[in-house]
Amino acid sequence: MNIRLDKQRALVTGGNSGIGAAIALALAEAGAKVGVNYVSHPDLAQDIVNRIQAAHGEARSFRADVSQPDAVADMFASLDEVWGGIDILVNNAGIDGRRALAWEAAFPDWKRVIEVNLLGAFNCAQQALKRMAPQKSGVILSITSVHEIIAWSGYSAYTASKAGLSMMTRTLAQEAAPYGVRVLALAPGAIKTPINQAVWSDPQGLKDLLTKIPLNRIGTTEEIARMAVVLVSDAASYVTGRTIFADGGMTDYPGFAHGG
Ligand code: BGC
Repeated sequence: MNIRLDKQRALVTGGNSGIGAAIALALAEAGAKVGVNYVSHPDLAQDIVNRIQAAHGEARSFRADVSQPDAVADMFASLDEVWGGIDILVNNAGIDGRRALAWEAAFPDWKRVIEVNLLGAFNCAQQALKRMAPQKSGVILSITSVHEIIAWSGYSAYTASKAGLSMMTRTLAQEAAPYGVRVLALAPGAIKTPINQAVWSDPQGLKDLLTKIPLNRIGTTEEIARMAVVLVSDAASYVTGRTIFADGGMTDYPGFAHGG
């Protein structure tokens, strides 16, 4: 199956690094026009735009802190000006925050994770739906994590944000379905990106991590990006209101491969 997204107008939040950058490149390769949102490191965003344009694709970078509703509204207004709207939103921007047990966590750190991961995704989804519902088409894909269902000591804000994003996805899918708009989520497991570099670059950390992954390897950003392209395309036209896991089996309770 050759998946094409020609003429589709896409926006990827946090599209300048890690999984977001890979998704931006993959959407463009499938023919979509791609908005690369970023909040810091404009050089990285420009690099993704340059790579897309070098391959004869269409791309633009858009700076906005997704946690700020006004900045998000401005970004969508810019998208309207440039491409006349949006067909695909990938809510990818996210942070995991400082590791801290709940009773040691600092309120501003906890709050910031929720603001970016959950409120940020809502702000963008709201703007996207305002446009997608009237045009009666569109897809919103939010990148969650295996930690929408796996507890993770030291990361209560992160797990709460991802679980919240999962349920928000299901509710928005219900609201948008009568308009032909799909809303779904993609939950990666351990993917080699800057967010978890401290773990995979440390031999002990990597060894421990691999015991949690039945396929016995860390995933690549391209593997997540390929899945994202499938999910936003018509190949997944009957899929909405759900999270699809791409995690090498991490959520398959690998501890039960023996004993029990
Ligand atoms: C986190 C990574 C982690 C992975 C699996 C992701 O959501 O961002 O740091 O390796 O989950 O635990």
